Amino acid sequence: MNVLFVTSEAFPLVKTGGLGDVAGALPVALRAQGIDARLLLPAYPDAMAKARLSGRSVALGNPLGVGEARLLEGEMPDSGCPLWLLDCPPMFERSGNPYMIYPGYDWPDNFRRFALLSKVAAMMGGTGGLMQWRPDVLHCHDWQTGFVPAYLKAWGARHPPVLFTIHNLHYMGLFGTEILDLIGLPHWMRGIDGVEHHGLVSALKAGLQYAQAISTVSPTYADEIRSPEGGMGLDGLLRLRGDAVSGILNGIDAGIWDPVHDPCLAAPIDAANPDPGKTANKIALQRRMGLDPDPSRPVFGLVSRMVEQKGIDLILSAIPRMVQGGVFLAILGSGDRHFEYELNRAAAAHPGHVAIHVGYDEALSHMIQAASDFLLVPSRFEPCGLTQLYALRYGSIPVVRRTGGLADSVVHIDHDPEGTGIVFDHPFSDALEWAIGRALALYDDKPALEAVRKRGMARDFSWNRSAKEYVRLYERLTAFQP
Ligand code: ADP
Ligand code: GLC
Repeated sequence: MNVLFVTSEAFPLVKTGGLGDVAGALPVALRAQGIDARLLLPAYPDAMAKARLSGRSVALGNPLGVGEARLLEGEMPDSGCPLWLLDCPPMFERSGNPYMIYPGYDWPDNFRRFALLSKVAAMMGGTGGLMQWRPDVLHCHDWQTGFVPAYLKAWGARHPPVLFTIHNLHYMGLFGTEILDLIGLPHWMRGIDGVEHHGLVSALKAGLQYAQAISTVSPTYADEIRSPEGGMGLDGLLRLRGDAVSGILNGIDAGIWDPVHDPCLAAPIDAANPDPGKTANKIALQRRMGLDPDPSRPVFGLVSRMVEQKGIDLILSAIPRMVQGGVFLAILGSGDRHFEYELNRAAAAHPGHVAIHVGYDEALSHMIQAASDFLLVPSRFEPCGLTQLYALRYGSIPVVRRTGGLADSVVHIDHDPEGTGIVFDHPFSDALEWAIGRALALYDDKPALEAVRKRGMARDFSWNRSAKEYVRLYERLTAFQP
């Protein structure tokens, strides 16, 4: 079975968050299950530089009236997964963050850029196709690809089923209704039974409305988004879609996130005897980030986009108590200026105890996972979350809020012999402070700490199991096609 992964990012070519990790790893896991999964993503300069291009290309003409486009054929650098980069210099020849011109400011022509990606994906699936290889399923990810099923619907011809995966319902791809003319979608798609959301066009809603199936990245998030509290105004539509909606928990790339062979670490961490490796990494991180050199006290890590979703404000409120309790806080992230500023201020107020690196640093993210005793993930909502999965593998005990994929992947340590982390219920700072207090008590009980750590490290979150669930979903989808 042929599956085309249509995505706006894929690690290691381009990554701003978990979608990049998933699109880099899941196709490879599917290939191991016998699925011919291939990627389609924009030819950003970074992607062009890192992909192994074959030199072959397919000319597309000017599909959206925004410039000549072509598909460059190639492979992913490490995994060898086949791919096409959609080259259209006026749209994609832009370095840095793929969505923003400047931190906090989206490119004003994002609707054209991702409509182009979507239209070309639809052309690859449409009758006639563009090349010999034809997808049996178009697997689309997030709002950037939401127009794929809309184009197919508008054209009306037979086409392969579309699976639309929601990685984050919050990012809706909202634009003025005038874009429909500009991207060549018909007027009858307007209205709340179409792609309109509160007077705007939502690319995400287009995906939810017209895809043959919808999945999201954890079973709990699949439930949450069908409720008024978690549905962000789209719960009604998601409920209407009935059985077409499901949740499959993300996995992790166990090759890239391998604490025994990870080249970013100061020392390997052995799941059977994690202590020596954890301590060596803790000392190295304290030195690197300018924390006081004291391996006896716990290090809490935070690796996160600095946005409302991630509960950064809860951490800001908890910092004074944490410092009083003699803990270290190692922070890596970037995002909203306000959060970056406040966290920088906290680091300046508590030198030696709170350290922050504002920016994107893949190697440092591995180091923090390896060095920290606890990883903080106090999200307000979290479709899946990958950092808690990396933390478990690296012997860092996750402290998470019970929501979405965090609820599905971390088991609270009290009253459960299978406990792997500390889970709190409410998105308030006193709940987080309670959880941090629980973590400190655990830290002081060395045998219990070691047992929890080892249990976490023994959990298997590799893609195998989830890839099989996707295969079953693809099979169900294709079985119903005429
Ligand atoms: P989200 O996709 O909502 O940001 P996830 O937990 O699913 O959340 O994925 C985040 C991914 O991005 C993880 O791989 C995490 O390690 C990585 N990440 C987040 N911020 C940074 C950063 N500043 N530097 C390096 N990696 C980061
Ligand atoms: C989104 C979500 C995150 C999820 C990731 C990959 O960015 O915020 O929870 O893990 O996508 O699916």
